[in-house]
Amino acid sequence: MHSSSDLPSRRDGVLIERQVIALNRFDDRIPVIYRQPINLPEDVAKWIAGWGGSSLFLTGAIGVGKTCTAWQTCRRWLQAQYAPGEPWQGTPTIQTWRSTALFDALRPDAGEGEGRTLLRQLQRCDLLFIDDLAAARASSWTQERLFELFDERYINRRPVIITSDVVPAKLTEVTGPRVASRLAEMCRGSVVLLEGYDRRKGVAA
Ligand SMILES: Nc1ncnc2c1ncn2[C@@H]1O[C@H](COP(=O)(O)OP(=O)(O)OP(=O)(O)O)[C@@H](O)[C@H]1O
Ligand SMILES: [Mg+2]
Repeated sequence: MHSSSDLPSRRDGVLIERQVIALNRFDDRIPVIYRQPINLPEDVAKWIAGWGGSSLFLTGAIGVGKTCTAWQTCRRWLQAQYAPGEPWQGTPTIQTWRSTALFDALRPDAGEGEGRTLLRQLQRCDLLFIDDLAAARASSWTQERLFELFDERYINRRPVIITSDVVPAKLTEVTGPRVASRLAEMCRGSVVLLEGYDRRKGVAA
């Protein structure tokens, strides 16, 4: 026999339905090779459980699994937003970008109106994932846009997930010093080094 406290409340039921829809939609966005569930490193699981406004920086050698870990972290973060008992803030928004595509989209010739609209979305989304930040070269224009983007997220404690094969301190050349300074604070305590081998080759990296 069930007591009423064993059954999910109507509100929890609605949350679960919304969660399933959001996760299915997100799964469609995940590139095929990154869709399989993986065990997340302990530090990453801790970040999801209590991120408290900090950002997450995943670093490590080529092929250790940074991008895969980041996609699965976004998914687990999304799932966690539907936890029963948390106040409902609306459907969480996640922007996911390769740095090269992002820098292209922020170029001045990408169209002034479109560039500003994108910048606003990047500033305001609930979670922003930028893959392989060290892989792209930023012009001084792009560095200014990155500053607008990171400063807005920094002052509002909105989280960013970054993957990079170099540590945050080495990113100044790409992002410029003001973004690098903010990133250092945003990711303090949540820089995770993924160790292991190049999974593509199946040998030590
Ligand atoms: N934890 C994991 N378990 C099983 N397979 C994984 C795991 N992490 C990554 N992989 C697989 O290993 C391969 C390389 O992963 P990924 O592309 O994430 O590496 P990376 O560190 O981002 O590489 P790069 O530095 O070149 O961008 C992919 O095929 C991915 O699906
Ligand atoms: Mg990668």
